[in-house]
Amino acid sequence: MAARFRDFLQRLVDAGELEHVTEAVDLRTVSARVGSSAKALWFDRVEGYDTAVVSGILGSRVRMGLCLDCDHRDIGRRFVDRIRDRCAPRIVSTSPVKEVIRIGDEVDLTALPVPLISTLDGGPYVTAGIGVSEDPEYGRNAGAYRLMIRTERETGVDMVSASDLKLFYERALKAGRPLPFAVAIGTHPSVMMAAAHMAPAGTDEFELAGGLAGESVELIKCETNNLLVPADSEIVLEGEILPIGWTEDEGRFGDFTGFVGPIKWNPVFRVNAVTHRRDAVYYALHMPDEVDYLVAPPLEGSAFAALATAGIVGQAVYAPQPSGCNFHLYAAIRKRPGEGRNAVLALMSLKRVKHVVVTDDDVDIFDPAAMERALAYRVRPAQDIVVWEGARGSHLDPSIQLQVGKGSLAPLTAKWGIDATIPEGSDLSEYEAIAYPFTDGITAGEADAPTPNDPARLADDIAAFLASPRHFSEVLATFASAHQRTIVKAWAVLRQAGRLGRETATGKYTIKAHRQEA
Ligand SMILES: Cc1cc2nc3c(=O)[nH]c(=O)nc-3n(C[C@H](O)[C@H](O)[C@H](O)COP(=O)(O)O)c2cc1C
Repeated sequence: MAARFRDFLQRLVDAGELEHVTEAVDLRTVSARVGSSAKALWFDRVEGYDTAVVSGILGSRVRMGLCLDCDHRDIGRRFVDRIRDRCAPRIVSTSPVKEVIRIGDEVDLTALPVPLISTLDGGPYVTAGIGVSEDPEYGRNAGAYRLMIRTERETGVDMVSASDLKLFYERALKAGRPLPFAVAIGTHPSVMMAAAHMAPAGTDEFELAGGLAGESVELIKCETNNLLVPADSEIVLEGEILPIGWTEDEGRFGDFTGFVGPIKWNPVFRVNAVTHRRDAVYYALHMPDEVDYLVAPPLEGSAFAALATAGIVGQAVYAPQPSGCNFHLYAAIRKRPGEGRNAVLALMSLKRVKHVVVTDDDVDIFDPAAMERALAYRVRPAQDIVVWEGARGSHLDPSIQLQVGKGSLAPLTAKWGIDATIPEGSDLSEYEAIAYPFTDGITAGEADAPTPNDPARLADDIAAFLASPRHFSEVLATFASAHQRTIVKAWAVLRQAGRLGRETATGKYTIKAHRQEA
């Protein structure tokens, strides 16, 4: 897999997933155009800016599959398989991202074509930034953080939720010093996935990214601090998070839930240098779809791992995008008795997951109609639904209204799971689905030469065929060159002679000996 941003863009173009917009566009229309496009868009010319814009490149499971080299159904499994094989980054000394270097007063963030993504956003947001920081004890950290443009040299940085960056910043703040910070924009999705993955503090996300990409991520030193950033980046912002604490307004922002979050109070990132390729492409990660699909592989991967830990064979796992690829999780399992419920319990423990549906492995969990049928016909609501109150949910779930002054500000919610596997002990013949006969047309049957055209003679041949139990459709198929009407008449001969028997479990016909004449 080519782990370069430009190679990934080309791969999307080749797959028909990304198309160029060649006419000049007003930056203000970019977000709406991407939101209504079935494909990712590459805006070659943005009026008044020197930089092209690409957006929507992670906006579907198919595109995530292209970045992980697999079918979209396998992105979770592929993620866990690859992230296990960590691969140390490699430091390089040259990169196109150093073709243009602007330091100090030359820095002007307004030169970047950063679009307003959603109507109620507090301003243009850098959404695809991979923020790199370092702590004397924990080492290097990379994560994805949104940045609201404030001035030519400042952005807000959202550090309200727990993150390693927040931890590093709190430690720097305690020491009364700014936290050096660098933001890489336009990196290969393996870097973005690794950065967004909630790995324990002290994990080098670039090692994880190397595992995902199957090759070392190349890093290059910043111009104005000692941080190392992906050399393949299109644009790098260098600077520091000021030691002012959570004092400045930031937001609102249309978040991964698809809802617009509140104003937050956050620190400020002061930008001391910008470096970029001469022909840089600015990547505007579109909300909420791209951020959702970006976190689907890690969540689905964790789900496979949780099932495996519970000793259950997971056949497929799916985190649907309308729930932010976070809150709802479907799994199809190869069930042994009782494992439907065990799987529900295992998956309900995963972070942010609020609703779980577990099906048997014959259900295509990616198909909404198949899921509907599983819920309709495999679930006995009184027995198969579990609701567990008081579990930890997410602040970003608007149905959780924090109860200020009532003892807890924790985002508590209920989790609910449905065991939509066929109930144990069911008569499986009741789950035999309708299939249409002769989908491939009529072909000559086995016993078909020559087929008598006379019902009485045909009845004898059919009787011989029924030496093994058969469905009526098999009779139609085997004597295919006879007209259906002749076959039905021959059938009537056998029935009137009292010769047709039934196998009750399958419904197949059997043949009885000739009825004795009185
Ligand atoms: C595109 C994108 C934007 C994100 N923005 C933020 C953000 O602004 N603040 C935040 O706390 N987490 C944000 N996240 C989630 C973090 O990237 C994620 O929790 C990551 O694990 C944090 O890394 P860290 O714990 O190593 O600092 C974002 C994720 C993505 C994919």
